Amino acid sequence: MDESRLIKKFEEVFHSTPELISSAPGRINIIGEHTDYNLGYVLPAAIHMRIYFLAGRRDDDLIRIWADDFGEEISFSSRNITTSWAHHWETYIKGIFWVLERNKFFPGGINGLVCGDIPIGSGLSSSAALEVSVINGLDMLFQFGIAPMQMAKLAQQAENDFVGMKCGLMDQFISVFGKENIAFFLDCLSLDFKQIPLRLHRDDLTFLVYDSCVKRELSRSEYNRRRSESSAAERYLKSSGIPGFRGATQDMIQGLREQMDKLLYRRARHVLSENERVQLAIQALHNDDFLALGQLLFQSHESLRDDYEVSCPELDLLYEFGMEFSGCLGSRLTGAGFGGSGIALVKTNKTDLFTREILDLAQEKGYRKPRVFPVRIDKGAKTSIL
Ligand code: GLA
Repeated sequence: MDESRLIKKFEEVFHSTPELISSAPGRINIIGEHTDYNLGYVLPAAIHMRIYFLAGRRDDDLIRIWADDFGEEISFSSRNITTSWAHHWETYIKGIFWVLERNKFFPGGINGLVCGDIPIGSGLSSSAALEVSVINGLDMLFQFGIAPMQMAKLAQQAENDFVGMKCGLMDQFISVFGKENIAFFLDCLSLDFKQIPLRLHRDDLTFLVYDSCVKRELSRSEYNRRRSESSAAERYLKSSGIPGFRGATQDMIQGLREQMDKLLYRRARHVLSENERVQLAIQALHNDDFLALGQLLFQSHESLRDDYEVSCPELDLLYEFGMEFSGCLGSRLTGAGFGGSGIALVKTNKTDLFTREILDLAQEKGYRKPRVFPVRIDKGAKTSIL
């Protein structure tokens, strides 16, 4: 992103100069899907696409934000923030001011500009990146001293309680913590995490993102529904004398197969099998065994499609094509599903061919034209004083 262009735009809109520029990345999740809110394991990595937030303090309590990608401005008082659903992007920003106030951090008025290059609503976590870029910028501007994990949790709280999306911690966590060429293993119960190097160059591999450009209308309510189904499944396990998801094994729940509600059984089986796959993926990455990693990606997709039911035909196409294409080691949907994006682990010299062929296939099927592009694994949130 051309920072000097953003600074110029800020000056044009506000007739003042910004004091800082903060940015935060989107992410891919390599494996561990719909496990974060089930207090299991995830393995996300930050990508090179980011949201930028430029800000300068004002003498009053007014918040003025210019969203450059939309050519729109909002303004509201930094005190007593109430929900308004007028613009989608506005809700995420207001949510951050709301969560700060609720946690006794009181920012004053600001002029702010946001813009970015993460495709919105594509399952690459543009919303977490927006939240994190804003909270990180405000933290520096007003010297709150918020620790990184607390920052991720506050952003998640804003999304859960203000935006109404009952997401887990994964997206905000990786947007704060991400590092170049590193995936992060996060235990969502203890919040312990470990850096897992991604030595893709050793096998000339690239992660491609396949943005289906499809978004199901009901994705938020379906997401929240999965969350309540999986907690109902976990309650059932506990009432049958089996520990919750973290203590149970697939063998243990196998014994409940006949008596348990079929849908809840499948939800539980996904969570348990996906947690196992994350652990195996870490082992595979430790050994640079990308063939094994790829197989786990395929298995993850099958489980998300059949047991958790969050896939869609467009993302199944990515999986099916990935299985057949020589030079693709694994492919799966990434993020919440219900449309959005998938990832494919592909030999670097085959990425062009892969892209051409899958675009043709999508067209033959009459699907919306997807976007396919390579991602670099990049750093997390950062802020610089101007
Ligand atoms: C979305 C949520 C995350 C996580 C994924 C599914 O990205 O924001 O918290 O639940 O879906 O793994």
